[in-house]
Amino acid sequence: MITEQILILDFGSQFTQLIARRVRELNVYCEIHPYNNIPPIAANTKGVILSGSPCSVRDADAPSVDLTAFRHHMPVLGVCYGAQLMAQKGGGEVKPSSIREYGRARLNEIDLANRLMHGLDLNSQVWMSHGDTITSLPADFEVIASTETVRVAAFQATGEATYGIQFHPEVTHSTQGKQLLKNFVVDICGCSQDWTAESFVDTTVAGLQAQLGTDKVVLGLSGGVDSSVAAMLIHRAIGANLYCVFVDNGLLRKDEFEGVLDSYKTLGLNVKGVDAKDQFYHALAGLSDPEAKRKAIGKTFIDVFDQEAHLIENVAWLGQGTIYPDVIESVSVKGPSATIKSHHNVGGLPDFMKLKVVEPLNTLFKDEVRLVGRTLGLPNHILGRHPFPGPGLAIRILGDVTAEKVAILQQVDALFIDGLRREGLYDQVWQAGAMLLPVQSVGVMGDERTYERVVALRAVTSVDGMTADWAHLPYTFLADISNEIINKVKGVNRVVYDISSKPPATIEWE
Ligand code: XMP
Repeated sequence: MITEQILILDFGSQFTQLIARRVRELNVYCEIHPYNNIPPIAANTKGVILSGSPCSVRDADAPSVDLTAFRHHMPVLGVCYGAQLMAQKGGGEVKPSSIREYGRARLNEIDLANRLMHGLDLNSQVWMSHGDTITSLPADFEVIASTETVRVAAFQATGEATYGIQFHPEVTHSTQGKQLLKNFVVDICGCSQDWTAESFVDTTVAGLQAQLGTDKVVLGLSGGVDSSVAAMLIHRAIGANLYCVFVDNGLLRKDEFEGVLDSYKTLGLNVKGVDAKDQFYHALAGLSDPEAKRKAIGKTFIDVFDQEAHLIENVAWLGQGTIYPDVIESVSVKGPSATIKSHHNVGGLPDFMKLKVVEPLNTLFKDEVRLVGRTLGLPNHILGRHPFPGPGLAIRILGDVTAEKVAILQQVDALFIDGLRREGLYDQVWQAGAMLLPVQSVGVMGDERTYERVVALRAVTSVDGMTADWAHLPYTFLADISNEIINKVKGVNRVVYDISSKPPATIEWE
C-alpha cells in the first residue's frame, strides 16, 4: 500500500513528467492523470498540483477542472497554466502578455514568511514560459512573489493552502524550484518522504502476492533492465510460479544469450532459454525494408512466445516490464500514442495476449527502475547495460539479414564494446554499436587487393534517446579499435565513425 501521494493533473505541458520526477526525488509518491479523466480521489491524496499547458485559459475550449473538488479539501498548487486557471476561475483576469515572458527571470520581491517561499533567496532565478499573464488577482488572493516584469509571479488564496506560480519550478533553470516543491509537498501537504526503492519493493511484493496468489505467470525476458527488474519483483513475490522465457532470435550480441541466461539462473529465476534463431532467419530471408524486417521479427516473436506459453499448464497471467513513461504516453491529454504495434492485431490475438496482465513497474521512471533493480540485487552488468533495440542486430545490418552477416557484425560489435569497457568509456556513452553497411570497398592487405565490407561505429551521448550527440571518443581509441577490427574480423576492410547527431539523424541506421 502506498501511504500517501500527490495528484498531478496534466493539462498537456511538456514539463508535466518533470514535475512528477521532482516530487519523486523528494521521496514522495505521485501520479499524473489527465485533467479530463481524473480517477476517484484516493483517500491518501495529500495535495494536488495543476500542470502547465500549451493552451490559453482564454480559449473557448480551454481545458478546465472543477476546483471545488480540491480547494478547501487539500492543498493545491497551480503551475503556470494551472495558476492562471485558478486566478481566472476565482474572478481574476488573465490577458496576453504585452512583454516577452520567456526564459530566465529573478524573483526580486518575495514574501519570505510565506510557507511556499520558505528558504528561497531574494533574486532567486526562475524559468518563465508563458504567452498569457495574470493581470489581476481575485479579491481574496495575494501576491507572494514578483519579478521585475511579472507582478503576480506567485500568489496565495488568503488563509487557504491554495497557491499559484507562473514560473516552472520543475525545470533546473529555476535554481530553487526543488526547494519550493519541497515546501509545498512536505511542509504544506505534510508528506513524510518515506517512498523509497526499498519501500516500493516491500509494498509491491506484498501487493503481487495478494493479486497473484498461487497463479502462474509467464514473462518474456529480453536481457534489458525493465523486463529483468519486473521478473525479479514477481519472482520475489511468487517464486517458482513465475515462468520466464528468454528467446534467442539470432540477432543478439555475441555470446549474449548464454551470458544473460546464466546470470538469470544465478539470480534464481525459473527461466527457459529458447533457441529460435532459424525461425527468425527464415522469417527475415530476402527482406530489406526496415519496417518489413521489424514486422517479421515481431510476428515471429509472438509465434515463439505463444508456443512457449502453451507449454505452461494453467498459466493465468502475462508479466510485462512496462514502465511509467509508456503509460503516461498512452493516456496523455495529447491523445493515445500511435505506438500500438500493428502486428498485434493481425489475424486475431495470440492466446498469450488473452492472459491477464501484471505490470509491477508501470508507476516507475527508468532511473527508479534501476534503483529498484539495485535493491533487488540485480548485478551491474544488467543494470548498467546500454539500451539495445528489440529487433537487435537486424536493424544494424542494412539490407537483408543472413546468419553470415550477423556473425560478422557480432564480432565487430564485441570488439568495439569490449574496447569501450577496457578504456573505461562504456559508462560515459549512452549507447554504442556497429552497423554493417551494404557496401564493399577496395583495400589492400599484405600484397593483396581486397574487396570487402564497410562497418560504421556509432556511439552517442544522450539522456533519454530522444535527442543524442555523437560521442567524442578519443582519436587514439578509434584508431586502435579500427586496427583491431580490420585485423581480426575476416570480411571487413574499412571502419568509419558516425559523427551525426539526432536530430536530424537517428541513433540506429534503420
Ligand atoms: P532511434 O534510432 O530512433 O533510436 O534514434 C532511439 C532508441 O530506440 C531504440 N530503437 C528501438 N528499440 N525497437 C526497439 O525496441 C525498435 O524497433 C527500435 N528502433 C530504435 C534505439 O536503439 C535507441 O535506443
